[in-house]
Amino acid sequence: MIRLDLSKAVSFLPENYAQTRQEGLKAAAQMLADHSGPGGDFTGWVTLPRDYDKEEFARIQAAAKKIQQQSQVLVVIGIGGSYLGARAVIELLKSPNYNLKKKDTPDILFAGNGLSTDTLLETIALIGDRDFSVNIISKSGTTTEPAVAFRIFKGMLEEKYGKEGARERIYATTDKARGALKGLADAEGYEEFVVPDEVGGRYSVLTAVGLLPIAAAGIDIVSLMEGARKAMEELSVGGPDNIAWQYAAARHALYESGKKVEILACYEPPFRFFAEWWKQLYGESEGKEGKGLFPASVEFTADLHSMGQYIQQGERLMFETVVKFAPKGEFIIPEDPENVDGLNFLAGKPLSFVAEQAMRGTILAHVDGGVPNVLLELPQISESSVGYFIYFFEYVCGLSGYLLKVNPFDQPGVEAYKKNMFALLGKPGYEDMKAELEARL
Ligand code: PA5
Repeated sequence: MIRLDLSKAVSFLPENYAQTRQEGLKAAAQMLADHSGPGGDFTGWVTLPRDYDKEEFARIQAAAKKIQQQSQVLVVIGIGGSYLGARAVIELLKSPNYNLKKKDTPDILFAGNGLSTDTLLETIALIGDRDFSVNIISKSGTTTEPAVAFRIFKGMLEEKYGKEGARERIYATTDKARGALKGLADAEGYEEFVVPDEVGGRYSVLTAVGLLPIAAAGIDIVSLMEGARKAMEELSVGGPDNIAWQYAAARHALYESGKKVEILACYEPPFRFFAEWWKQLYGESEGKEGKGLFPASVEFTADLHSMGQYIQQGERLMFETVVKFAPKGEFIIPEDPENVDGLNFLAGKPLSFVAEQAMRGTILAHVDGGVPNVLLELPQISESSVGYFIYFFEYVCGLSGYLLKVNPFDQPGVEAYKKNMFALLGKPGYEDMKAELEARL
């Protein structure tokens, strides 16, 4: 399903870089398979495409249908791993302009992924007087941003439909037993979906966390899961021919050779949020203990006219992973009898041909500039290929974290800002800390 081309990266690496990592990869794959590595309690995603809860999956499909029938807008409240996956898949498969299109599925508005007053007010204005439903997603059930947003949208629903009517429009995706949201959902009688204990936030897109909003947007989640299952089956066969092993070995070797930044590049704008999801996945999984590749992303060709300069000639600290997939449609460049712009040499050619040459030329230019290039090619964007791609990146991330000798499934650093914020906000229990922080500011 995926073609991996390392030919424009290997010249930057020692000849035996792949062989010397086979033992490490074997151990990493084993730890993922038997959940025995650091953070092993959070490796439920490894077999999720086969072992997911089928009864809940059917409820997700039914809830998505009900949302489509009842509402013109679905407000999806969540942050980080409880937000990025759904948005990534909807934008990649439907379009970043999904909400602007004529369709028989609801607009999807994302909320609770920040603390911007103006964004909140705009979201409320965009709903207007339309019928809406809410999917609140929080594994811990205590994250400030989504909790604040939920209080607001829950209040709006209750005002518009009454308490009973609001209950019919609220879907809570959270832990099966713990957390403030779980308690609230039980008390209010909302339909509930579970973030499995053994799946961390950034690996949760193929659970109800991602699947309910994705299905509500009219995407075939059966094919999405089938694609992920195909990846699971193919990538579980270890060895030097496994493309996940190959990619993990190359990125680890590039990191050890001094390339500290991985730039994910794509020539298709609908990929933008997929790259955001990827950045969280890799940033939170690898960036700890003073180690880890810094995940960055660019959208070409637009960013060739901004970041392109730095990539070509700035600090030599990065390598690029270029994601390529065929466009769904075709557009032929027209002939102009006057040829005033001198572009007739392109007349009759598909626009995708121009994009392809831009990509090929850029890869060579960047390689000449000292930037190793990895190419990941997908046949075409479909539910199934996106499911495959999600699993591929998750699996490479797990392997990479273990090669780096970190726990790829925790995120201790995320807590630091939260404690400071709680103290500064005056949350009970943080009084001493507040005084100390205020004195430093
Ligand atoms: O990957 C992670 O664990 C985080 O990004 C979380 O998903 C994020 O902090 C949101 O947490 P929660 O779902 O508990 O509200």
